[in-house]
Amino acid sequence: MKNDLSSLNPTNAELAPLFEPYKLGDITLRNRLLMSPLTRSRAQQPGDIPFELNALYYQQRASAGLIISEGAYISPFGKGYAYTPGIHTEAQVEGWKKVTQAVHQAGGNIQLQLWHVGRISHPSLLPNGAAPIAPSALQAEGGTSFISMEEGRVPTPTPRSLESHEIPLIVEEFRQAAKNAKIAGFDGVQIHGANGYLINQFLASGSNQRTDAYGGSVQNRIRFPLQVLEAVIDVWGKNRVGIRISPTGTYNGITDDDPYTTYKAFAKELTQLDLSYLEVVESLFLNNNTPHREEALLGMLRETFTSTYIANGGYTAIEASNRIKSGHADLISFGRPFISNPDFVQRVRSNASLNELDMNTLYGGDAKGYTDYPALEQAFA
Ligand code: PHB
Repeated sequence: MKNDLSSLNPTNAELAPLFEPYKLGDITLRNRLLMSPLTRSRAQQPGDIPFELNALYYQQRASAGLIISEGAYISPFGKGYAYTPGIHTEAQVEGWKKVTQAVHQAGGNIQLQLWHVGRISHPSLLPNGAAPIAPSALQAEGGTSFISMEEGRVPTPTPRSLESHEIPLIVEEFRQAAKNAKIAGFDGVQIHGANGYLINQFLASGSNQRTDAYGGSVQNRIRFPLQVLEAVIDVWGKNRVGIRISPTGTYNGITDDDPYTTYKAFAKELTQLDLSYLEVVESLFLNNNTPHREEALLGMLRETFTSTYIANGGYTAIEASNRIKSGHADLISFGRPFISNPDFVQRVRSNASLNELDMNTLYGGDAKGYTDYPALEQAFA
């Protein structure tokens, strides 16, 4: 004990809740600090195939209680950003095996995030230069798609509204992607229901003005998201499937007349499904670094959804610990800190300072700003 300087650190007791193991469905987590999904646009080209560089990046971060991977697009129409990895070709599945093996070798857990971007895309990324697809032909206000290193981000166009008969086909694409994730060796999957992408577009009244069974009433707007979850649970079982939502987010032009009512109805159904977890983007996201938590809505979610609640969005370690202690959350996921600190968990444990994040190397490129952020022992070497 005497030699263990960190035990003398007064913050240790305050941070202890973060280091209690947790049983998440079928998966045992070593700590409560999760790595949230982060688009980094560094899949191998051509083919958007995960490769050794991505495996190293995730392996470096394997001390997270659970890694939730960057979004992997489930079909050619589900892609919204250049160089993002897919999970619909055989080569992509083979590539992901390198990632899961590397993380498991390091003793970590990793789930795959299944992503369909809907209207947040661009013809230059889609088959035959087609328009992006969406619940309704409504352009996302302020929506942008990263189309190449050279051209950067460009506005997303007006999408094409999906025909009713096409919607079950997308559910089947999610099912197939979930099967592919299993073949690739993941510990489960997360459905991307946040940040203005396809599932969020169905949930939100502002982007879903359909008049069929998938739009209009709250019960209709939650239908497609629930069908996706049911299909994926068929493949994985409820203990290995979660969803990420952003009920108060405005990113990618999302608006809802009454998010409280929408998400109350949705959370009730998620409890019925007995889903493994709900990950909630609680902040405004990207546009705003300042956490802005709508406590009434978040409290309702915590109460309505009876399984694991993962909080996300601008938390410091001490806030995260307090959030767990007070019972508002079971686990906390972190994005930016995990980009610039591969050993974020160790740094929190030892109360070490954090590496600064380089915003210029977030999307695309190579190892620079991806796998070259130093861990503590490298920094001191
Ligand atoms: C982004 O690349 O801006 C991005 C991707 C996925 C998200 C949010 C933001 O969920």
